[in-house]
Amino acid sequence: MEIKLYPPITNASGPHCVTYEELERIARSAAGAVVTKSMTHCPRQGNPEPRLRAHLDGGIGSLNSMGLPNLGYQEYAKLIPKLKGFGKPIIASIASAPCAHGLPPVEQYREIAVTIERAGADALELNLSCPNLEDVPIAMDPQGVRAVLQAVTREVKIPIGVKLPPYNNTPKLFEEIARTLLDFEISYIATINSEPLTLDIDLATRTKVIRPNEGFGGLGGPAVLPIALAEVHRFYKFFQKHRAKIAVWGVGGITRPEDAIKHFLAGASVVQIGTLFLWEGPTVFEKLWAGIEQWLAENGFSSVEEIIGAVREI
Ligand code: DHB
Repeated sequence: MEIKLYPPITNASGPHCVTYEELERIARSAAGAVVTKSMTHCPRQGNPEPRLRAHLDGGIGSLNSMGLPNLGYQEYAKLIPKLKGFGKPIIASIASAPCAHGLPPVEQYREIAVTIERAGADALELNLSCPNLEDVPIAMDPQGVRAVLQAVTREVKIPIGVKLPPYNNTPKLFEEIARTLLDFEISYIATINSEPLTLDIDLATRTKVIRPNEGFGGLGGPAVLPIALAEVHRFYKFFQKHRAKIAVWGVGGITRPEDAIKHFLAGASVVQIGTLFLWEGPTVFEKLWAGIEQWLAENGFSSVEEIIGAVREI
């Protein structure tokens, strides 16, 4: 099933989307949908602080190892009906994490998905790519991806998206994952999640900039734009080649309207904003959308659809 957003721009699951107040601010903004922080079976405090460096030297991006702080899925099931009152699609991001109930990851996804659909969410975004937990993300394991998608697609009717990590220079794994996705009725993939295993150092104190995981965390912001464009483009081409009706949502490195245009040209039909939203809050959607519309008009296009995947070879 398809999910259409207008405008085709949302927050990326991550910054400022944990509490009801934060989600309401997105609902009142110009964003085309509200995406929640990835919810887990049990509520989570997240990792010890400092766990986020919002501004890396040189303005290249942000580095985090948040550790999935969230209210737990039962709280989100309660607040979704209220959020729906603002009239835009509510997209519930779901993740698995070690849990007091000892449920295996696939069961966590299944149980959360069923409850959250019943609560009235318009779509689910299965986050298979959190870089900050001890386990290797499920998105790195084609069998794991298959097991989660089987469990969730069997029981849920609303559109399903899948949040993926950058596969970088692992073409075989990329292909295996992409082929696995073809076997399921999914509405979209969102790529990329933050670039994992990145590190920065504060020269003034000669310390690592974040505490958890020995300072290693996920990178977002301008530094990852070319990585995101590559992932968007190769998934877009793969789905075209296989005539799959899976949309590609572009995430990564968008701080100017021109960056979003590049995502659309690479094949994205929706863009999500993470680090810039972290930096500037909910006014970013209006500003970016105005700039996107201006670029389209100045270049003789009347809609985003006309440029999706329209990048040319040289
Ligand atoms: C966290 C970070 C991510 O990039 C993600 O996809 C999910 C969770 C986090 O640490 O909270």
